[in-house]
Amino acid sequence: MYKFNSPKKRIDWIFEQYSDPNLLTIEDFVEQVNVCYYKYSVDLYQDRYVEDIEEQYRGVFNKLNLADDHDLVIVDIGGGAGFEFEQISKNNISYKKYYYIEPDSAMVEKFSDRHEIGRERVNVCHGQFADFAKVIAEENNKLIIINSCFHHLIWVGEFLDLIKTSTEEGDLLLICHEPVNNYSKSPMIYLNYFLRFCFTDIVPRKLCIWHSARAKKNRNRWTQINEELIATKIFRRRVSPLMIRRIIDYGANNKGDWKLLKIPREYDEGFWTPEDIRGYLGDGFKLVYFDTYRHLGDSGSNRVIQWLNKFLANYFHEGGSAFCIALEKDSK
Ligand SMILES: C[S@@+](CC[C@H](N)C(=O)[O-])C[C@H]1O[C@@H](n2cnc3c(N)ncnc32)[C@H](O)[C@@H]1O
Repeated sequence: MYKFNSPKKRIDWIFEQYSDPNLLTIEDFVEQVNVCYYKYSVDLYQDRYVEDIEEQYRGVFNKLNLADDHDLVIVDIGGGAGFEFEQISKNNISYKKYYYIEPDSAMVEKFSDRHEIGRERVNVCHGQFADFAKVIAEENNKLIIINSCFHHLIWVGEFLDLIKTSTEEGDLLLICHEPVNNYSKSPMIYLNYFLRFCFTDIVPRKLCIWHSARAKKNRNRWTQINEELIATKIFRRRVSPLMIRRIIDYGANNKGDWKLLKIPREYDEGFWTPEDIRGYLGDGFKLVYFDTYRHLGDSGSNRVIQWLNKFLANYFHEGGSAFCIALEKDSK
């Protein structure tokens, strides 16, 4: 079970081992690793496969019945390049105001380039949710969306405390496209590996004998990130791509690969599940939507895996590697 306010976390160990606490704080360390990662990776989030996530949005918006609510205030935490922003418009959701909250400059720039934001109702808030929580708390009738961002949070208990204090009765919280962390222990993961072995290029890719332009670009990207983080004294030494990925995707363990980093047990706070999140938010939040999908993981552009993912999702409500949950606050 996830320990929400554990005094020793995996990040504390990583910081002690690979950075220099005399030069920077742990918060600065995390921020700088994020800034550097997104500087070289921002385009990845535009090219991903999204059909199944879009299906979740259609499902959740159907259930929430929001289309005619012109007084709605949307709060988009970690809005990135604008994926959720597009879902709102694709599903014809009306709103009074849209708060786009994003700490990363490269993402803000991308979002601004792609969408005509200067327009009246969209407030671009450059920073973390904590920086704007007071302003958000003043708004009524909110839909707070966190898409593919919750697993980036490290101090999860503190974040959920802020959600509790900045919401009121009737407000909705939608956490979507996040990893199901006990997927790594489910039988579905073995089926996943077996089918990938049969229908994808996973083996040559893992053995690095597949010299595609994409693989080369990816290797260069990790080298650039490593070099920049060492040059700016954020890291004392070179680290594996997995280490950087885990700092960025801190709360994700649906592939169970955190164990490869061999972090001492006393520093392991565990990995949250949707049930942990609900439990921490408490009885004041009631469940209005829950689904899991990607039973065979991210299909990328593989048609067979895409089709099988769809097929399995029809028969197994649980068992996917990603989840989408909507909660409504029904009391203080
Ligand atoms: C994987 S991207 C997802 C972007 C977008 N929501 C999407 O699904 O395309 C995660 C985003 O969360 C942002 N993020 C990370 N920590 C955050 C925090 N504490 N508050 C707000 N955003 C955060 C990152 O900068 C990044 O843009």
